[in-house]
Amino acid sequence: LIIIDGKFVSSQIRSELKTEIEKLAEKIGKTPGLAAILVGENPASKVYVGMKSKACNEIGIKSSVVKLNENISEDELLNVIKKNNEDNNIHGILVQLPLPKHIDQNKILNSISVDKDVDGFHPYNVGNLIIGNDTFYPCTPYGIIELLDRYKIEVSGKHVVVVGRSNIVGKPIANMLLQKKKNANATVTVCHSNSRDISEFTRQADILIAAIGSPEIIKADMIKEGAVVIDVGVNRVEDNSEKGYKLVGDVDYQNVVNKVAAITPVPGGVGPMTIAMLMKNTVKAFKLINNINMI
Ligand code: GUN
Repeated sequence: LIIIDGKFVSSQIRSELKTEIEKLAEKIGKTPGLAAILVGENPASKVYVGMKSKACNEIGIKSSVVKLNENISEDELLNVIKKNNEDNNIHGILVQLPLPKHIDQNKILNSISVDKDVDGFHPYNVGNLIIGNDTFYPCTPYGIIELLDRYKIEVSGKHVVVVGRSNIVGKPIANMLLQKKKNANATVTVCHSNSRDISEFTRQADILIAAIGSPEIIKADMIKEGAVVIDVGVNRVEDNSEKGYKLVGDVDYQNVVNKVAAITPVPGGVGPMTIAMLMKNTVKAFKLINNINMI
């Protein structure tokens, strides 16, 4: 049994990036900059943006958090993005999702410069991902690929079952694993909230990717003996702790762990990887903008 340690791999990647940023700074006298835009008071979003910003600063990416009022107009938000698109010290822009309901998310994501789209949510970059071109890969799916790679878990020819079809995880990971490429070339099934019987599919999975957003709904009897389970869920459930909640995945870990070959825990699995890959994308954007191919 392998417990896939995303926290450890994430720290490895961050330390690799730190070294790379130092070398880049020596070479061109500049360092990468990230603008993280946070609209409103969503508690989870605040935590995520805070963690992203802190992690960036620790490795030499200058990060600025742009905190905006819940009631900001769409035009005002578009203006903030425009300003960052034009700012030569900013190489990556991320708008934390979800946005308040009165703002059209697609319009906002469309307005981010495709060269600074470190979340990989702009339709141009999504299109390139599906075609199989090099692009900014969305951070969570990219983190999953990186974990599978660093743990030498073969994907080629395997049956990967993705549960969930979000634009942030389900759709991009399914499309990435489908490509005729290294670390991909899988047979991919995507099931979702309208699938007739999810377990019929999950039981066939050599690799199961759970990205549903419902606490512990993937049970042991839904999983094949010896499967690899990647749990993307980050669900807050109330408990008696000081915080008042704990984090659990989409997978019933305690029971599932007994029959799998490998599994990602929550927390400490996929979550920390998302942040590491955001930084990797920011360094990539920095190199692209500065025309650097080194390392
Ligand atoms: N909301 C949930 N996941 C993400 C993410 O990876 N990036 C952004 N910007 N918002 C999110």
